Amino acid sequence: MSFDPLLGLIGQTPLVKLSRLDTGPCELFVKLENQNPGGSIKDRIALTMIEAAEREGKLKPGGTIVEATAGNTGLGLAQVAVRKGYKLKLVVPDKMSLEKILNLKALGVEVLITRSDVGKGHPLYYQDYALRVAQETPGAFYIDQFNNPANPAAHEHGTGPEIWQQMGHDVDAVVVGVGSSGTLTGLSRFFRRAAPNVEFVLADPAGSVLADYVETGKFGQAGSWRVEGIGEDFIPPLADFDSVRHAYRIPDEESIGMARQLLDEEGILAGSSSGCLVAAALRYCRAQTTPKRVVTFICDSGNKYLSKQFNEGWLIDQGLLQLPQRGNLTDLITRRHDKGATITVRPDESLADAYARMRRHDISSLPVVEGEATVVGLIDEWDLLLAVHDEPENFRQPVSNAMSHELETVAPDDDAEKLLAIFKAGRVAIVVEGGRFLGLITQSDLINHWRHRLR
Ligand SMILES: Cc1ncc(COP(=O)(O)O)c(C=O)c1O
Repeated sequence: MSFDPLLGLIGQTPLVKLSRLDTGPCELFVKLENQNPGGSIKDRIALTMIEAAEREGKLKPGGTIVEATAGNTGLGLAQVAVRKGYKLKLVVPDKMSLEKILNLKALGVEVLITRSDVGKGHPLYYQDYALRVAQETPGAFYIDQFNNPANPAAHEHGTGPEIWQQMGHDVDAVVVGVGSSGTLTGLSRFFRRAAPNVEFVLADPAGSVLADYVETGKFGQAGSWRVEGIGEDFIPPLADFDSVRHAYRIPDEESIGMARQLLDEEGILAGSSSGCLVAAALRYCRAQTTPKRVVTFICDSGNKYLSKQFNEGWLIDQGLLQLPQRGNLTDLITRRHDKGATITVRPDESLADAYARMRRHDISSLPVVEGEATVVGLIDEWDLLLAVHDEPENFRQPVSNAMSHELETVAPDDDAEKLLAIFKAGRVAIVVEGGRFLGLITQSDLINHWRHRLR
């Protein structure tokens, strides 16, 4: 326990019983780790690992901490490093959410982004890369959560006793996800002493090798999954699976859908890994024939994933959400105008407004819409550039002066071949039905459509 007032807020998180989801004969409790000051379960290990390194003389005042992290450990370390005056360098795989990366940068962290499609042993694999950075940085300490005994110790001496006390010494099962395995190993150690009959249940994203390993002692080729922070393509060295009695493989769709349901039904804004844990916990609860008291975690907040799991456009792009299909060209529209999802501009708005909207949404062309749904033009970066080149005051002119009137419209029932001719000419297709704008189809929408046919 730290005497720093902010760091003293780490741990002692609330535990609440879920009341609206169908838990079969069981009671399901969630420990709200998103309430830690850095926003996740990883605050706990950030503090114990840094304080252990200080005690052991491995980290000197003003020193540099290096870590390979999927994000949350980094946020926890950043929080502790700021309070204690350390520099922090983090190696982060590129599948991590932009919000997490921006959050780290805001905390003054040096973020080194690396590939997430390479495995252990590759020089760009995030852990090998971090080790190299630590070796090359004078006075650096490599936190190495995957091999650091202070990681499980945080849960053995903190999280475990808290759960035991909050549950009134009455727990039947604990459902965990495994990243570094600190949570599983620490809690297993605590409960083996305090209540050896407590069953551990593994919530594993489908594609991870851990569930196979738990069930058969063997593991095959890892697949890929989008849930962040849990699931592995190797067996973490600290992992202690002896208390694990069941393992559930949870597909991304189910984890993300459960995070959505947690928000809709229980009012808890959680990340997709918590969705994975709760999905596995519910499968376990519903499979029981006698009442059991089950605990799992809300590991971090969903506010870190607003542009991903809570963003319909991202879900559709990733093939995780399918809008009702009509069997015509409207199925190719990613952002439907009639659902309020398109970004448009009015003809009387200024070019400066149009440009600001393009930048804000990271798009290079906007349909120009009059009234509710009448497309009167299209404006792209080239049109804008032609209008303002050498004459920046033209940014004040209305969009109607610069927009293109040559529109390629298609009807929902047109032949898909028509799209190819439009794209070949470097244009986008505007879908109009009965005079009303329905949305755009771009080349990448069509590519995405075919990509999702490959399973
Ligand atoms: C986002 C996130 N990170 C990490 C973990 C657990 O990780 P570890 O095995 O490293 O203790 C969880 C747990 O479910 C998690 O949701």
